[in-house]
Amino acid sequence: MKTVVINGTEQKGCTYQMKEMFLDAVGRENEVTEYVLPKDCPVFCIGCKACFFSDISVCPHKEYTAPIWASISAADLLVFTSPTYVFHVTAQMKALLDHFGTKWMAHSPEPQMFTKRAVIITNAIGQGMGNVIKDIKDSLDFWGVARTYVLKQALSQAKWDLVSDKRKANIRAKCGRIAAKIKSAKNANPTLKVKGLFLMMRLAQKMIDKSERKAGRERTADYLHWQAYGYFDGRIPWKSPKRGLDYRQQ
Ligand SMILES: Cc1cc2nc3c(=O)[nH]c(=O)nc-3n(C[C@H](O)[C@H](O)[C@H](O)COP(=O)(O)O)c2cc1C
Repeated sequence: MKTVVINGTEQKGCTYQMKEMFLDAVGRENEVTEYVLPKDCPVFCIGCKACFFSDISVCPHKEYTAPIWASISAADLLVFTSPTYVFHVTAQMKALLDHFGTKWMAHSPEPQMFTKRAVIITNAIGQGMGNVIKDIKDSLDFWGVARTYVLKQALSQAKWDLVSDKRKANIRAKCGRIAAKIKSAKNANPTLKVKGLFLMMRLAQKMIDKSERKAGRERTADYLHWQAYGYFDGRIPWKSPKRGLDYRQQ
């Protein structure tokens, strides 16, 4: 199982320890590629929107973003980690996710996303983990990721050494339960939310195209993407995830 880990902090602290526990539980035999933020993407999205009008290959930060997206695209399992910073995800994680806004279903979703699983790992001293999970899960859902599991733990402490053995045992047990679900089947069937989003966005693309054509404007890059992937011809990405742009020849 190809796994990509996006670490939302460079600290080898509590978040790192929880991620290591999870990787132990899911099995060390997996091929794991790890990125650490902000080291591996030390830039903010500048809002040029080039990716929306073309694709991610024209991102001015492609030296950072292209390899990370390629790893995400190729992986079976995505692991996103972030401690809670002022009730939200770390800024470096948000900065990375902004770069992949073009991969949201409102724009140009990739078919292989619809059979992937993901795990969000977070912790806090006490409060704010719900927002961290939402900050990451919004992107995962809108990319089309089939199933997302959550490993969260309030630690009452900021240092791993001070976290109680009881809490650590609780985290280990949660890791085991999530790992068992992930190992139970290779491909995941998307949640109703993800399926519903795809069908709604397909309708939205058709409606936007109608009004753009009425206004005498060119077809949008998003519409052409949906068309090229065969989404308007009844292709359902979670049923044929491996077929790429050349699906018509297959
Ligand atoms: C800038 C900053 C903001 C934080 N905000 C919160 C917060 O809103 N709620 C909370 O419970 N803990 C907060 N914390 C504590 C961290 O979430 C907590 O210490 C976490 O375990 C750190 O993980 P790490 O060891 O991987 O860095 C904050 C810590 C930092 C550095």
